[in-house]
Parts: sequence; structure tokens; C-alpha cells
Amino acid sequence: MINVAIIGVGTVGQSVAKILKENKTLISARAGEEINVVKGVVKDLSKKRDISIPLTTNIDEVLNDDSIDIIVELMGGIDEPYRVIKAALTNKKAVVTANKALLAYHRYDLQEIAKNIPIGYEASVAGGIPIINALKVGLSANQILSIKGIMNGTCNYMLTKMMNENVSFNDILKEAQELGYAEADPTFDVGGFDAAHKLLILASIAYGIDAKPEDILIEGIEDINEHDMDFAKEFGYCIKLLAIAKKSKNNIELRVHPVLIKESQMIAKIDGVMNGISVIGDFVGESLYYGAGAGGDATASAVVSDIVEIVRAGQSSPMLGFKKPHQSQILKLLPVDEIESKYYLRMKVVDKPGVLANIASILAAWDISIETILQREAKEKNKAMLLFSIHTCKERQIKSAIKDIEAQETLNSKISMIRIED
Ligand SMILES: NC(=O)c1ccc[n+]([C@@H]2O[C@H](COP(=O)([O-])OP(=O)(O)OC[C@H]3O[C@@H](n4cnc5c(N)ncnc54)[C@H](OP(=O)(O)O)[C@@H]3O)[C@@H](O)[C@H]2O)c1
Repeated sequence: MINVAIIGVGTVGQSVAKILKENKTLISARAGEEINVVKGVVKDLSKKRDISIPLTTNIDEVLNDDSIDIIVELMGGIDEPYRVIKAALTNKKAVVTANKALLAYHRYDLQEIAKNIPIGYEASVAGGIPIINALKVGLSANQILSIKGIMNGTCNYMLTKMMNENVSFNDILKEAQELGYAEADPTFDVGGFDAAHKLLILASIAYGIDAKPEDILIEGIEDINEHDMDFAKEFGYCIKLLAIAKKSKNNIELRVHPVLIKESQMIAKIDGVMNGISVIGDFVGESLYYGAGAGGDATASAVVSDIVEIVRAGQSSPMLGFKKPHQSQILKLLPVDEIESKYYLRMKVVDKPGVLANIASILAAWDISIETILQREAKEKNKAMLLFSIHTCKERQIKSAIKDIEAQETLNSKISMIRIED
């Protein structure tokens, strides 16, 4: 018999207890042993919960209980769960966590502390989609050429609505908050940070690269408006928040930002709160993973799959998928300025002769060539909205050109830029 304690019996924790109870016979048969939740840890014992397991507020009580084999950490945060997981590993208990924020910072030190003690974290990326197992096991024969993921359901819900129903960012954010898809403070989701945490976890498994959120390019969807959506529709694109990892020679690009992506691409068809991840391997080609990226039950499904695997397989494989450092290639994170992309620019200008020619000459001075231009009426008198798409150039070129254009008196607001992912 395997004894499990759940630290954090909230949305996901309650679903974990429910699944282990409702599917007990099946799960025991799969794992080869009976799995029991013997204790849950919470902050507030008086809260009403859907499950009936013994509860305590004392974390150390379960960490120091020799009869507990697996600690499931579902409390959220970074510092406190880090302490809890380290203590669990020191006490030789296997750990399962859904905590992407913690892993974005501490996955390598936890792997070091764990050594052969299993740590499961399938639920930390894209909730119910088994993408960690796919990368760690299913695709381990391949060089991973790219990962492109829609991994934040809140942003995808908002962008889908903005595209299909012409609603503004602020209106749709309010609706997403009312529906419980967005937090009262939405910065973490709409700012791209949540997707970045997940990308960093996947990049470790795909490339063995140890990067932190502050090392990579992270931009959110806050500045996207109806002009961008119009431009996208006119040229057969949709707008998505993508988390992208790409390998080129010995460099790895890691970035999270909104993109214009052709409607015909498979990943462009992932709408609403759903998540989707496209992975390209050098031998397998493209594979696409689709499903619920959040929610108690879907996330708990991944948590329980880790518990089953730990019980079934015993000794774990290395947490992040590499047994030895990958010496044949020294992969480096590509500096943000060196990233190459096509770009879309939106700018509001004074509507008078010579303005467009001036902008074109500034772009040309930075060796940037224009692909398409659209002019739209601005709401204000004597102002125009100019929308450009730009051929491939480096991030440092486009940023320098934007700085020079923004210094012109004829420009009436900051320039908005979206990368184009063909
Ligand atoms: N919800 C999702 O869809 C989802 C998806 C993927 C990953 N995750 C991750 O899963 C984890 C849990 O998320 P959640 O949505 O289930 O969170 P939640 O509903 O807020 O639940 C957190 C639980 O932890 C308990 N807790 C917090 N701090 C504690 C402390 N210091 N001591 C004891 N108990 C403490 C809370 O106790 P009380 O109940 O008494 O307040 C609550 O039961 C997070 O890391 C999150 O990022 C969640």
C-alpha cells in the first residue's frame, strides 16, 4: 500500500483526492499497489471542501511522517513549496508537483537534491496534456528543432474572442475575470509570464538548457487592438500568444510573445481556453498535442499519472530527462537582439505628405525592407493609422528603427510591434 499526502487541497488538490477515490480500482491495477490519500494540508481548516480526507495545517506533520511515501505539492508560490519539496526529498519521499513558477527557477537544484528520488511534474505544463512525457520519453530519439505552444488558456480565450467578435482587450479581460478564466490581477497570464515558466521547463527537457524567466524575451498581449485584428484578417493571419523554443546550429531561442500566424497552420486552429503545442523533431517531423491546459480535473489527471508512474516504475529516470551532460553540443541561449523574425508595426501619424516616405527611409537606413503597407483612418482628425509588415530582420535592427521613428514629430503615439511567425 502506498500512502500519499497532498499539501494544498484547493482546486487541483481536491480533484486529485477525488480521482484517486473514484478510479481507485483501475488506478490500483495500473500501479500494481493500492494508493491511499492519508492526509491533506491546508491553511484554513474551516473552509468547506468537496472531499473528506483527514486535514491538518501542519506541513511538518506530513513531511516527518515515515508512513507517507509520496508528497503531492499543490499549494502554489515559490519559496514555501521549495522548502517543502527539499524537506520531502531529504526525508526520501517521492514528490509530485504542478508548480510551474517554482520549477521555472528551481528545477535544476531540485534535480540535484533528488538524485534517484522521483519528482513528477507532468501537470506543470499545459495541465492535462502529457507533453512532459511526450518530450522526455516519446520523442527522446530526436533533436528537437522547435516547440511552439499556446500554453495560456486565458490569453487564448481573450485573443480568440477579440478576433472573432471584435471586442476590445479591456472588455474581454473583464468578461474573462467574470467567468473565472482570468485572475483579479491578470498580469501573470496576460503579461506572458505563466507561458514563459512552462516554456523554460520544456526547454530543459528538449535541450538541457538552464534558463530563468529574466534571461528570455517575454511580452504579453496587453497592447493588441482592433487595428491589429483587422490587419491579421486582411492578410490571412490570426493572433496568438506563442511560447517558442527553436534550435539553430548551437543556439536556442526562447521567447514568449504575441505572433501573427497564418490561419492555415495547425496551431492557429487552437481556440478558446484550450492549449496546443507543436513539436518538430528531426526524424519524427511535426507532432501536435491538444487539450485542456488548466482546470482542477484536467490538471489533477496529470498529477495522478505521475503518482501512478512513481508507484509502477519505482526508481525514477532523471527528472529533466538527461542522464549525463549533453557534451556533443554546447547549446547556448541566443541573445534577444540576435533573434530574427518578420514583423508587423502599427503607428499613428500626422496625415500629411512625406510622412510615409520618411518612415520608409528610416527603415531602409536600418536595412529593413517593407513587405506590405495598409493605411487606416484614425479616430482623431488629421491622423492616420499606418500598418506595416516587414521582411525578416534582426531584433536589434527593428528596435533601432522603431526608436528612430518614435523620435519623429509626425508620430502620435508609441509604435506597436508584433512578430510574424510563418
Ligand atoms: N488550477 C489550475 O487549473 C492549475 C493548472 C496547472 C497548475 N496549477 C498549479 O497547481 C498548484 C495549485 O493550484 P490551485 O489552483 O489548486 O490553487 P488553490 O486552489 O489556491 O489551492 C491552494 C491550496 O494550498 C493551500 N495552501 C496554500 N498555502 C498554504 C500553506 N502555507 N500551508 C498549507 N496550505 C497552504 C490552500 O489552503 P486553503 O484551502 O486553506 O486556503 C489551498 O488548499 C499551483 O502551483 C498552480 O500553479 C494549477
